[in-house]
Amino acid sequence: MSTKALKGPTIPPIIQLIEAITHPTERLDAYAKQYGDIFISKLSGFRPFVLFSHPQAIQQILTADPNLFDSGLANQILHPLVGDYSLLLLDGERHQRQRKLLTPPFHGDRMKSYGKLICEITEQVMNKSAIGEIFSARSVMQEISLRVILKAVFGLDETERFGRLRTLLSSILDSVGSPLSSSLLFVPSLQQDLGTWSPWGRFVRQKQEINELIYAEIHERRAKNNTSGEDILSLMMSATDEAGQTMTDEELKDELMTLLFAGHETTASALAWAFYWLHKLPEVTEKLLKELNSLGSNFDPNEVVRLPYLTAVCQETLRIYPIAMFTFSRILKAPYQIMGYDFEPGTQLTPCIYLTHQREELYPEPKKFKPERFLERQFSPYEYLPFGGSNRRCIGMAFAMFEMKLVLATVMSQWQMNIAQTKPVKPVRRGITLAPSGGVKMSIVGKKQLQSIPVQV
Ligand code: HEM
Repeated sequence: MSTKALKGPTIPPIIQLIEAITHPTERLDAYAKQYGDIFISKLSGFRPFVLFSHPQAIQQILTADPNLFDSGLANQILHPLVGDYSLLLLDGERHQRQRKLLTPPFHGDRMKSYGKLICEITEQVMNKSAIGEIFSARSVMQEISLRVILKAVFGLDETERFGRLRTLLSSILDSVGSPLSSSLLFVPSLQQDLGTWSPWGRFVRQKQEINELIYAEIHERRAKNNTSGEDILSLMMSATDEAGQTMTDEELKDELMTLLFAGHETTASALAWAFYWLHKLPEVTEKLLKELNSLGSNFDPNEVVRLPYLTAVCQETLRIYPIAMFTFSRILKAPYQIMGYDFEPGTQLTPCIYLTHQREELYPEPKKFKPERFLERQFSPYEYLPFGGSNRRCIGMAFAMFEMKLVLATVMSQWQMNIAQTKPVKPVRRGITLAPSGGVKMSIVGKKQLQSIPVQV
């Protein structure tokens, strides 16, 4: 694989897989300490991963010609959730074409038009929790982010169909959401449909019902010739390729599922972490509230988004425990050299976001939550990369940051909360992502004087 010999853990791949599922960050910390910036990790059932945490190596991977790699091929683990035609699983020209279509709705004015809606949905969902009631911050944030993405994708979220879709999406993601149940995705031999009561049987039936709901919406719109709306489904239904072909129902369904899945789980976990840090560190809350108060009670989402300390809080939240521990793997299609190592075609190169964000020389005291680091210096896209990079960089990056800031600003300026979780909160696996253990139990202590912040649009 490489002329300069690569080191890495020698314990059996099955044990490495178990460690990756049950202790995802602890194992990475330990292996980086032992083997350094570049090491090889073998997980049973997967081709070996070469993990990188050196910015120079990451730069070499993310600035190389994207045609040198296949990445969709490395994402097959997500196939049961998103289907054959998902952007996440595509490579080459088809990937490029779909990406071009799906990126603009999550940027610029289209994105900004969701500002008021995000604040309103946040208030509605938060108002459901009574004072003193203990709730999981992650579940509440998931309800907010799911409603936001449903609205962006379909233009609707309040019909019976969308209520059912919401319940099913939360449930199917929860079914592969604990460290143990994540094994269903990682170990294909566990994917046995043994009826409604078996874990995989339930998964398959829920996925089937989700597909049917999405198809029903597509068919209804086709029948009514209703594809001229501002929402993303309308845009996808009216798009044509060079040959004048529109997307098939199956392609539409898989792409919608991709956006619904990628577009809310991640943001919900990030927000739960942000609330955890804000309530664990009162000095951070104090600085944030001071900044929010400077806007007065009549805040404009576009001003909120520019607040430096709020931005730094979001950046530090995604640094310390990045929701995606790795970028997608890049599978080499031709020989390539990185920092003196020669890699053969077929090698799976994987920038490790988590380990890069833990580098002491970049982030002194890396285990400490310090938003100030982002005010004091700038980091290159190879030193700080919570959304990955190059031709696979997250298409929802701007949207996720926009949503995080507006939800945080809305909640922090109106509600006073406490952490109610007695067990320590630590990063645990949730499917292929990292989430706070226990979901961060919180309770509302009170609602501030200001009853509702009128939002300018
Ligand atoms: C805090 C929230 C989020 C985080 C941390 C995150 C992180 C990531 C990362 C690390 C990647 C892989 C990039 C790479 O391999 O270079 C990715 C890809 C992707 N993300 Fe996100 N994401 C977030 C929110 C969103 C949202 C809101 C959407 C919805 C639009 C979204 C849609 C996608 C899609 C479709 C891809 C695949 C891009 C491709 O294959 O070309 N993500 N995301």
